[in-house]
Amino acid sequence: CALTLHNYNTAVHLYVGSVLNACNLPQARHDIVVDIYERLPVPFGLVRFGVAPDHPEVKNVINTFTQTAHSERFYFHGNVNVGMDISVEELKEAYHAVVLSYGAEGNRSLAVSGEDLIGVFSARDFVGWYNGHPSNKELHPDLNCETVVILGQGNVALDIARVLLSPLDMLKKTDITQRALQTLAASRVRRVLMVGRRGPLQIAGTIKEVREMINLPGTKADLLPVDYDGIAEALNGRNAKEKVDRAHDKNIENGGWWTGSKQAMGIRFLRSPVKVLPGADGKRVAGIRLAVKKLEGSGEGAQAIPTGHTEDLECGMVICSIGYKSLPIDPAVPFDPRRAIVQNNLGRVQGTAGLYCSGWLKRGPTGVIATTMNDSFDTARIILNDLEAGTLDMSIHKPGAQDITALLKARGVREVSFSEWEKINSEEVRRGEALGKPREKLLDVEEMLAVAWS
Ligand SMILES: Cc1cc2nc3c(=O)[nH]c(=O)nc-3n(C[C@H](O)[C@H](O)[C@H](O)COP(=O)(O)OP(=O)(O)OC[C@H]3O[C@@H](n4cnc5c(N)ncnc54)[C@H](O)[C@@H]3O)c2cc1C
Ligand SMILES: NC(=O)c1ccc[n+]([C@@H]2O[C@H](COP(=O)([O-])OP(=O)(O)OC[C@H]3O[C@@H](n4cnc5c(N)ncnc54)[C@H](OP(=O)(O)O)[C@@H]3O)[C@@H](O)[C@H]2O)c1
Ligand SMILES: *[C@@H]1O[C@H](CO)[C@@H](O)[C@H](O)[C@H]1NC(C)=O
Ligand SMILES: *[C@@H]1O[C@H](CO)[C@@H](O)[C@H](O)[C@H]1NC(C)=O
Repeated sequence: CALTLHNYNTAVHLYVGSVLNACNLPQARHDIVVDIYERLPVPFGLVRFGVAPDHPEVKNVINTFTQTAHSERFYFHGNVNVGMDISVEELKEAYHAVVLSYGAEGNRSLAVSGEDLIGVFSARDFVGWYNGHPSNKELHPDLNCETVVILGQGNVALDIARVLLSPLDMLKKTDITQRALQTLAASRVRRVLMVGRRGPLQIAGTIKEVREMINLPGTKADLLPVDYDGIAEALNGRNAKEKVDRAHDKNIENGGWWTGSKQAMGIRFLRSPVKVLPGADGKRVAGIRLAVKKLEGSGEGAQAIPTGHTEDLECGMVICSIGYKSLPIDPAVPFDPRRAIVQNNLGRVQGTAGLYCSGWLKRGPTGVIATTMNDSFDTARIILNDLEAGTLDMSIHKPGAQDITALLKARGVREVSFSEWEKINSEEVRRGEALGKPREKLLDVEEMLAVAWS
């Protein structure tokens, strides 16, 4: 065949799936080959390391990916760190088209004093810890405290609150790491407060997830009736109304306040952190100072503005869940530091023909898997359009993986193939079986490699 398009994709599952799906549509595109380069020896990105362990059904996309990965025109190259082991320029030399889709590996930070105290964590690290991300295996959070404050009210904050408060029997059957289970078994945490700067109508978490939290067995919803006063009149959307009504009903059902008799999940509005407060030793977190806000404007776009008042809350741990952040990996790629995305127009990286982006790196760190999937279909369509229009230059032969593999070899980098990942997978499933879990993840890259190449 005359046409060989090698698509590079650092990231995920879906994207590759969708490139192939989209490319399968016209018969003429049957000659496209897709190579995916992934930093870790294991695939699936946030589907493996982000999605909460008690939401296994969300991970079903892994099956679609695995099916795609068995295609003859797909190759997985794990254990390759783009930007370090191989440059984007080198990939561009080797392929007709390169798609950057490496997600958002950083986190936003609040930049308040006390952020570096012991007991303050970013949501990214905390989630990575319970989900077995190799870079968070040494986190060792100390759950020897009664109250945990989570800053931010998105779905990630809700995931964390649920993991902290779920009955152990529920978590035991999931793929949460054994190490996290042991820490949770010894936890003294009885109260989680999810603190947001705006009001109930602006809560970032979605209805289903808020409801799941409020209905968590053994945990009382601790919601302040004052937060919902007069809200009915202010409602301007059905979604918001449903969220608030549910929360409100549940609150009344529960008698409102936390009595100290059992676990509680509290939601606090119109508060934003000013300072994390140290305890007597000056090293560990003992509380947090919050600025009291009021809303200006209404609906989704309402802004929180300071009232001048502050309030201190006692807590033994603070988890900052205000969002993820993409990071630049290669100086050759134009990066917008303000929005923390690759500068692009509909997935075409600005100023570089043949270079594309997709996923959180293209759009910013929001959206569920379906959003990311749709987004990747869009990028795939753009690539196909450029192919048809001839703006993607196919006239020169490109060697594809052959050259990249040679370069990597010369640099002492050995790849993990998809069938080698499947060996890791089998080992994880085997270890999980013994514990009554779907899998027990390997936490250590060296160990993953040893299993892959055994
Ligand atoms: C904690 C959390 C929970 C979530 N839960 C849900 C949920 O329940 N349901 C839902 O629908 N959505 C959920 N989402 C959203 C969903 O995970 C994202 O929409 C989606 O994963 C984004 O895909 P992506 O490809 O942009 O990034 P990612 O999934 O992060 O993939 C990026 C990949 O790139 C790799 N990479 C990074 N840097 C490099 C490099 N330099 N070289 C090579 N490879 C590299 C990473 O290792 C990773 O595998 C959740 C998100 C988070 C953060
Ligand atoms: N079950 C699921 O479907 C699921 C699970 C996890 C994640 N996800 C998805 O993954 C994406 C990322 O989730 P996320 O929770 O990280 O992000 P998110 O939904 O964007 O929520 C971020 C939260 O942080 C707050 N925030 C941001 N900057 C702040 C600041 N400077 N000071 C104080 N608060 C600040 C936001 O408040 P404001 O609203 O005031 O900005 C918001 O409450 C979302 O699209 C989410 O839906 C889905
Ligand atoms: C992530 O958050 C931590 C603490 O909340 C902060 O120290 C770190 O600088 C943040 N990382 C990025 C990339 O912003
Ligand atoms: C994805 O796209 C389909 C088809 O256009 C649409 O029906 C669906 O609502 C989209 N999903 C999301 C989460 O954007």
